[in-house]
Amino acid sequence: MHTIDVNTGRPYRVHVGTFLLERVGETCREVAGGERACIVTDTNVGPLYANPVRQGLAEAGYEVDIFTFEAGEANKRAGTYISILEFLAERAYTRSDVVVALGGGVTGDMAGFAAATYMRGCAYVQVPTSLLAMVDSSVGGKCAIDLSSGKNLAGAFWQPAAVLADIGCLATLDDAQFADGCGEVVKHAAIADPDLFCALERTPLTPELLRENVPLVEELVARNIDIKRAVVEMDERETQARKLLNFGHSIGHAVEASENYRLGHGTCVAIGMTAISRAAAALGACDTTVPERIETACAAHGLTTRTERTLDEIFDAALHDKKRHGDTIDVVIPRRIGACSIETVSLATFRDLIAEGIGAKGK
Ligand SMILES: NC(=O)c1ccc[n+]([C@@H]2O[C@H](COP(=O)([O-])OP(=O)(O)OC[C@H]3O[C@@H](n4cnc5c(N)ncnc54)[C@H](O)[C@@H]3O)[C@@H](O)[C@H]2O)c1
Ligand SMILES: [Zn+2]
Repeated sequence: MHTIDVNTGRPYRVHVGTFLLERVGETCREVAGGERACIVTDTNVGPLYANPVRQGLAEAGYEVDIFTFEAGEANKRAGTYISILEFLAERAYTRSDVVVALGGGVTGDMAGFAAATYMRGCAYVQVPTSLLAMVDSSVGGKCAIDLSSGKNLAGAFWQPAAVLADIGCLATLDDAQFADGCGEVVKHAAIADPDLFCALERTPLTPELLRENVPLVEELVARNIDIKRAVVEMDERETQARKLLNFGHSIGHAVEASENYRLGHGTCVAIGMTAISRAAAALGACDTTVPERIETACAAHGLTTRTERTLDEIFDAALHDKKRHGDTIDVVIPRRIGACSIETVSLATFRDLIAEGIGAKGK
């Protein structure tokens, strides 16, 4: 098992290993206390994994409730969020009770936001079950729901009391969900860890690797979390350094929106990283091996790097990005594998970068 201590304003420990679902109860007892525990999960994950978590919580002395919502990003919205709050209130949860987010990033974001706001904040423990949630969304304390006007528009910074990433859960992801999580894995290596990038080029993180070598998968997940930890510790509230984690996201988010969220987040990040790297290489900000290696690494992880969307569709979607400030937008530019810089560019320049990155004709 790997443990990673995250030293944010409220510090917490991340555990990465196997057979951790059974230990959620004792961990909650240690880090959160309280009398009641509410597992928040979705209709895919609940039937697979809620039982061992429920049992462990009961053995640790908790009265346990389970709130299950219909799986999918479409339900990361105000209606579901309010239902969680009502569910807790009807059962007389207090500020000293605990919420357990059992599922992917949608569950973690929504349960986290409910915990951040229920009675002005109660403890929650993240039990990520998708690869994306393990390597990215469960760590760092950002939590949010979507509004009609866009993704993640209402949210909070609220650190979990602990994170338990049970690698065994990855076995039930389908290949596309697994690959989707790898978008963030390639991103972490590309912004901060050239050795990890080389390791992923030699041995991609795939469902086959999970079947053959669980300890290696565990180590790769832990290294990813450690990269996120280091960035989040530098800049918990995303004033500057944390923006590095947005590599591939300015274009990626725009592709995601212009695709009407039919493509997974990690897949759009892969498209975004490749596009911005191609544009950076064209401008001389990095050499051409950078986009080539990123594109090849994404493909080796089963990720597409091309988009059918047009320049105008992507640029229009980018105008709605919450990371835009008036007429400028922050873009993460790769300098070499393992090192990026954050640049503030005008929207006109951003449009040129998209055009260059996706190879649009008649820019
Ligand atoms: N807070 C952050 O810092 C942060 C970072 C990145 C992404 N996100 C958010 O995370 C979300 C995407 O996360 P996601 O891809 O995990 O989405 P998700 O939670 O919808 O999970 C994807 C699908 O996999 C299923 N699933 C999850 N674990 C499973 C398992 N072990 N076995 C079988 N099926 C399983 C889910 O039911 C769902 O159908 C987005 O809403 C995004 O905005 C947040
Ligand atoms: Zn992301």
